Amino acid sequence: MVERSELSKKAKIWEVETFPGCFSREWAVGDMYGPEGDPYFYFGPSWHVDMNLINEEIIDDLKKNGKSVLSVGSGRYGFLERFLTDYCGVDKDKVVLSDNVGQFPDGFTSYKFDFTKEWPDVGRDFDYVLMPESILLSTRFDLELPNHIVDRLSEDLLSRVVKSSYGVLEPSGQLRMSGLYGVRFISSVEEVVRQKFPKARMKYEKSLLLADMGE
Ligand SMILES: C[S@@+](CC[C@H](N)C(=O)[O-])C[C@H]1O[C@@H](n2cnc3c(N)ncnc32)[C@H](O)[C@@H]1O
Repeated sequence: MVERSELSKKAKIWEVETFPGCFSREWAVGDMYGPEGDPYFYFGPSWHVDMNLINEEIIDDLKKNGKSVLSVGSGRYGFLERFLTDYCGVDKDKVVLSDNVGQFPDGFTSYKFDFTKEWPDVGRDFDYVLMPESILLSTRFDLELPNHIVDRLSEDLLSRVVKSSYGVLEPSGQLRMSGLYGVRFISSVEEVVRQKFPKARMKYEKSLLLADMGE
């Protein structure tokens, strides 16, 4: 059994109370919301805390240090992003949403774009880019393909996405991407990214990728 942090416990209480019927009351592995007819699952903020996609330090940065975040593949409910604003007290102008399905919760600045293609210039840079379970490498490619081809395609996509995120990050900013299950090729991605960003650094731990420009 995983030891849950105080933040995770608070997030669980908040998500159960705020979105009745979406998440189970008790913490459960794989606790996610799967609306009928929707191809995607959606995760409560407690999940993202448990994955260390967000933590107290990041929340403090957003709340007290004027830092900002772009959430890529936020989804139409914005559970995590609403937790940051409505529960944690982060200003709404510090939290920007994006997804290729152009539906977003009210009151947020949001952009519709496909993160596998060129990212738009939205006229500002961010301190964090979060990709909360949105890269979906394990389901994105045809599972009939041989493993080495899937790895090659995934590596190429990941390298492009990391470089695109650097285009909207402050030089000292960080990409935090969750949902990279069992990835074997992070060092190759780092090599490719370094052709454009020579000091780029990546850390991959427990399906979370942390990447920055090394500035
Ligand atoms: C598994 S859901 C996760 C949603 C949300 N981040 C969460 O944690 O609940 C994946 C999300 O990624 C978005 N997504 C998938 N492929 C995308 C793409 N190529 N460009 C932008 N968004 C994408 C989907 O629309 C969906 O909202």
